[in-house]
Amino acid sequence: MTQVHFELNGSAVAVRCVVERRLLSILREDFGLVGAKPGCEIGRCGACMVWLDGEPANACLVMAWQLEGRRVTTIEAMAADEASAPVRDALARCGAVQCGYCSAGMVMTMTYLHQRIPRPDALEASELMCGNLCRCTGYGGVSRALNELF
Ligand code: FES
Ligand code: FES
Repeated sequence: MTQVHFELNGSAVAVRCVVERRLLSILREDFGLVGAKPGCEIGRCGACMVWLDGEPANACLVMAWQLEGRRVTTIEAMAADEASAPVRDALARCGAVQCGYCSAGMVMTMTYLHQRIPRPDALEASELMCGNLCRCTGYGGVSRALNELF
């Protein structure tokens, strides 16, 4: 067992657990933050996307031992942040949300893209978004939202 201290959505927190426990389960089971979803759980689908020190990261791949001193941001904080409003609006307007299982992860990745790379080229956008899978929309809506945003 270990005790890790990190920042979660702006608050200092501590968790005592085994070192290999995953951030995804810490968020959902210890803090009730269920916006990050379990999907593939091997880092391929993006349903569990959070920001770690301001960079997109799959919470299913982050172990407790990697959290000490880090800064974690989840969709619960991002949804209340005006920075994500253009992305949320574009996804909704363009029909990119159906069951919504992937949507939180999409918002985390697209908000990062929107803030950090004001005018990504098609390759930059597709490289960043390739880690976010959607089983409902067929990506037409996601692609339209990207075109609106950039
Ligand atoms: S559940 Fe983490 S990437 Fe799929
Ligand atoms: S909206 Fe259902 S998985 Fe994307």
